[in-house]
Amino acid sequence: MLVEVNNIKKTYEMTRKNGFFRREKMKLLAINDVSFKIDEGEIFGLLGPNGAGKTTIVKILSTLLLPDEGQIAIGGFDLSEHMKIKKMIGVDFGNPRSLYWRLTAKENLELYGRIYGISRSKLPSRIDELLELVGLEDRANLRVETFSRGMIRRLQIARAIIHEPRLLLLDEPTLGLDVDIAKDIRRFIDKVLVDEKQYSVLLTTHNLSEAQRLCDNILIINKGKEVARGTPKELYDRFGLSERMEVKISPKTESNLKELVGNYPYKRVDGSLVVFLPTSGNQLHSFLSKVIESGHEINSVEKTTLEFEEIFMKIIEEDNK
Ligand SMILES: Nc1ncnc2c1ncn2[C@@H]1O[C@H](COP(=O)(O)OP(=O)(O)O)[C@@H](O)[C@H]1O
Ligand SMILES: [Mg+2]
Repeated sequence: MLVEVNNIKKTYEMTRKNGFFRREKMKLLAINDVSFKIDEGEIFGLLGPNGAGKTTIVKILSTLLLPDEGQIAIGGFDLSEHMKIKKMIGVDFGNPRSLYWRLTAKENLELYGRIYGISRSKLPSRIDELLELVGLEDRANLRVETFSRGMIRRLQIARAIIHEPRLLLLDEPTLGLDVDIAKDIRRFIDKVLVDEKQYSVLLTTHNLSEAQRLCDNILIINKGKEVARGTPKELYDRFGLSERMEVKISPKTESNLKELVGNYPYKRVDGSLVVFLPTSGNQLHSFLSKVIESGHEINSVEKTTLEFEEIFMKIIEEDNK
């Protein structure tokens, strides 16, 4: 087991100005008894909405913050073995300021390589290798300020793995990226970092489908607490459809509609009826046949994904039962 996190808690203390003279001390329990394990070679997903505590956990694992309670072991070492842990992990918070925009890609990596104590003799070849890995070999000598967001993200990941860590922590790696670039970064994490280079990765996301696509195991947190965990398949089986078929119908008559729709969820939109069906099995086929037989008009059949919020609400509801 590469990472073991047991029952960690973290409280933030803040002072809030309350009027002119008074200051009020406030406490916020940001992490409330969270535990998880990450295996070697695994992509582990920490999934949750804004404010769930994802970044706090990444900060704790990267030794930037100490938990108030609980135990953490990375590669068998306790967090107190600061230097050993630091060598084992690479972290990227996606903060644009983690790079120097006036320096070139190569100069940025040289700087970080030296910070991590990579020897002068090894550094140039390591940098060439990294730039090739992230597909920036042609841009090595261009300033970062000329880079697109996708290129910046790749360079940030290259920076995070310059010392060949065993565990890579990526905090919301696709946040704020266009759909195509996000897809490209996901593919890079999956194919290059994990399949080819065999890094173990903890990534955080508020995007359910991203976690489903990438992760071997997912821990869902909300307000600092665990709400659910499992493989994507287990979560899918437990919380039902994350994908569904939407069939839009213009009904000719109302008379047999109820029977036709049966137990499928549906909604009315203007004059038409939208019915939701599972993507697997032959229910769609037989439903469509019945609709046609009954003489209704089919406007569209479309595969859609439940929004994270929708699934998340289901999970929270389930959790509160
Ligand atoms: N430095 C801080 N001081 C006080 N509260 C904080 C601090 N950092 C985060 N928080 C609070 O802790 C909670 C968890 O935040 P965070 O870990 O950033 O969540 P996430 O990354 O999932 O959005 C939030 O309610 C946030 O407002
Ligand atoms: Mg965050």
